Amino acid sequence: MSTSPPGQGPAAVLAGLGTWLPPKVVSNHELARELDTSDEWIRTRTGIGQRHVIEPGSATSWLAVEAGRRALKSAQCDEAGAVVVATSTPDRPCPATAPEVASRLGLSGIPAFDVGAVCAGFVYGLATGAGLISAGIADNVLVIGADAFSTILNPGDRTTRAIFGDGAGAVVLRRGEHDEPGALGPFDLGSDGELSDLIMIPAGGSRQRATGTPASPADHYFTMSGKPVFMQAVLRMTESVHRVLGQAGWTVDDIDRFVGHQANSRILTALAERLELPENRIVSNIERVGNTAAASIPLALADGGLRPGERVLLTSFGGGLAWGSTVLRWPDLIPG
Ligand code: COA
Repeated sequence: MSTSPPGQGPAAVLAGLGTWLPPKVVSNHELARELDTSDEWIRTRTGIGQRHVIEPGSATSWLAVEAGRRALKSAQCDEAGAVVVATSTPDRPCPATAPEVASRLGLSGIPAFDVGAVCAGFVYGLATGAGLISAGIADNVLVIGADAFSTILNPGDRTTRAIFGDGAGAVVLRRGEHDEPGALGPFDLGSDGELSDLIMIPAGGSRQRATGTPASPADHYFTMSGKPVFMQAVLRMTESVHRVLGQAGWTVDDIDRFVGHQANSRILTALAERLELPENRIVSNIERVGNTAAASIPLALADGGLRPGERVLLTSFGGGLAWGSTVLRWPDLIPG
């Protein structure tokens, strides 16, 4: 018998977690040999010590397949009813990356599509997976956050090159009950397109249409206005956390582990201050991986040493602008 609350479908329950980082590591010292920067600047302004990057010839789908395989193993299942890939660095602008990822995982024939919400993509992917389950479209969904920002950064831009790294993380969501460990939700999702220019790639879309003549090379690179993005990240995640706590009937004191988007350690510190949350409840792996965009939350979940039963809050923020938060009680997972 379903114990779903009235008006809600079945719950989406986190049943498996897997991650993948490409083997190549670039330290701050290596970056400082190429760019006018230093280990000291990057560590003090961002908390980042190194990042992983893919080799030429590789692509986001490779990261996604490796993480997806591990998540399926962790969930002890070899099939899924749908695959959702959150990414801003698809293998190609068209088609979506998810169908190829699904096929390479032996999951051909099922719905597979991409979700684009930049660094908030993974939480949007979770909400999409939960929606597919609650609508009865799929009984279990593989949700993958995968990004290879190293492929879209301007080689001469010391700010973005210091921050971003490549990686992937994935979870399996299965149909279940709202009161069991791992049940996701409620969700708080939001966006503000008035500030879409703060984080963007100017070319490659329909706005700067293909003419047969290549666009200016710089227009194909990712651009970010650091300071306003920093302020918006703190503001939007703080507001979203308060809203999702209200919906869940939790207070800040109920949060055992806070897993925020790993964009900058100073953003996480500012969130802790604003929320009056002790810093030791904040999960952070940014020193080792940098900002891995849509992979950031699942990589932090895997590195967080979370214990079954702990109350976990996820919050993310990215280009769009877009933000999203959700909560769950941590389940007992088998390593992927
Ligand atoms: N090494 C050395 N100096 C650098 C540098 C680097 N890697 N990157 C930027 N600088 C310089 C700037 O050029 C600037 O120099 P200037 O004063 O001569 O113009 C100076 O450092 C200060 O720049 P500023 O942008 O004010 O620094 P900051 O303290 O705001 O830090 C960010 C910059 C990008 C680290 C910070 O704004 C940030 O983290 N923003 C949010 C990023 C984010 O969350 N992005 C993802 C959203 S999903």
